[in-house]
Amino acid sequence: MAFNMVADHAKWPMANDPIFGLAAKAKEAIDKYGKENVIDSTLGALVDDEGNLICLNTVYNELKSMPNAAIAAYAQVAGQPDFLEAVQKVCFGKYKPDAHIRVVATPGGTGSVRHGIWNYTNPGDSILVSDWYWSPYVTISEEFNRKVTNYELFDDKNEFNIASFKEKFEELLNKQKRLVTVINTPANNPTGYSLSDEEWDEVLNIAKENAKDPENKIIILVDCAYIDYAGTGDERRKFFKKFSNLPENIFVLVAYSMSKGYTMYGMRSGAAIGISSNKDIADEFFYSCMHSNRANWSNGTRAAMEVLTRIANDPEKTKAYEDELYETKTMLKKRAEAFVNGAKEVGLDILPYRDGFFVTIPCENAKKASDELTKENLFVIALKKGLRFAVCAVSEEKCRTAPAKIKEVLERV
Ligand SMILES: Cc1ncc(COP(=O)(O)O)c(C=O)c1O
Repeated sequence: MAFNMVADHAKWPMANDPIFGLAAKAKEAIDKYGKENVIDSTLGALVDDEGNLICLNTVYNELKSMPNAAIAAYAQVAGQPDFLEAVQKVCFGKYKPDAHIRVVATPGGTGSVRHGIWNYTNPGDSILVSDWYWSPYVTISEEFNRKVTNYELFDDKNEFNIASFKEKFEELLNKQKRLVTVINTPANNPTGYSLSDEEWDEVLNIAKENAKDPENKIIILVDCAYIDYAGTGDERRKFFKKFSNLPENIFVLVAYSMSKGYTMYGMRSGAAIGISSNKDIADEFFYSCMHSNRANWSNGTRAAMEVLTRIANDPEKTKAYEDELYETKTMLKKRAEAFVNGAKEVGLDILPYRDGFFVTIPCENAKKASDELTKENLFVIALKKGLRFAVCAVSEEKCRTAPAKIKEVLERV
């Protein structure tokens, strides 16, 4: 374009979101060929076997029972005080760290990731993220003139690559003396990997070793957007307890999202939860993020906060909500198992899946493979190094048959 009006820092490629573009194509195919003949594994939202978005009744009945004024009102800039308490209960469960904890409400997990990157890095710094990552980490970093460095998520045994993590972590920390590392677990997007408790110990040992230099500032940003679909009970929350009594120069920020666990994707609610062994550092976090809230979106969605609070503070409602969530989680697990078993049967290589909405097939030429699969009416997202299959969006039956189709296409591209 010869003529620009936007300022230099605001010039970006004129491209639409590729995921929403492919989802639109899948919709066209469904209209043309019928939904029984199309596998649409594009969007990261839970849909039932008929292709309808799952919306938890316990959540929406609560929302609709609220007086209009409670829905319409502004929330406080940092979030409603009762929400800031309740969200800790639902996020940590039995495993609340023994630490100073402050919370700021944000519009979704995205808001807290944004606060973590903006408020804990200097201009030009790199954040550290694994090589299988959610692309908005890059979008957010670019927006703020920050860079992203990757470590390899898996080693050759397909386990967490602690050596690669250590190498990149220390390289960046030695250079910058401060480092934000985003760890998207449990139920990583796009792989479905969850760090084990032992792997968390290894990560924290590296952080603690490097924290011996008092000049170092280490920020671990835990993106747990899919935590409500991880594990069977609350075993995938145990790692939170490990954030107790850490050295003062290790700060943990948990990015909590209501989008998946409450099926409130578009209601935009979540929280930035700051954890420190030092009260002043936790308070500093709170005021810094409150300032960011005011500067960016003023305040969050009050009705969404109220729904979480009402459910969390009433044991009967909590039970009903958890039962409904459990049903959805079980459906998701069956689908993922069907895909993983289907892949095994036909010898399709997939990355280690533990929990969550997605399974990833590593491959070269992912874009070409995705284009070819589109011709077969199987819609799957092309990543840099593989294909992301959204088990959250596809029936168990189709999850079982999809791997054979994918294998067949990968063999010829
Ligand atoms: C890895 C990851 N982190 C965070 C989010 C946050 O989403 P939201 O801002 O809707 O809570 C998502 C949603 O897709 C995600 O996939």
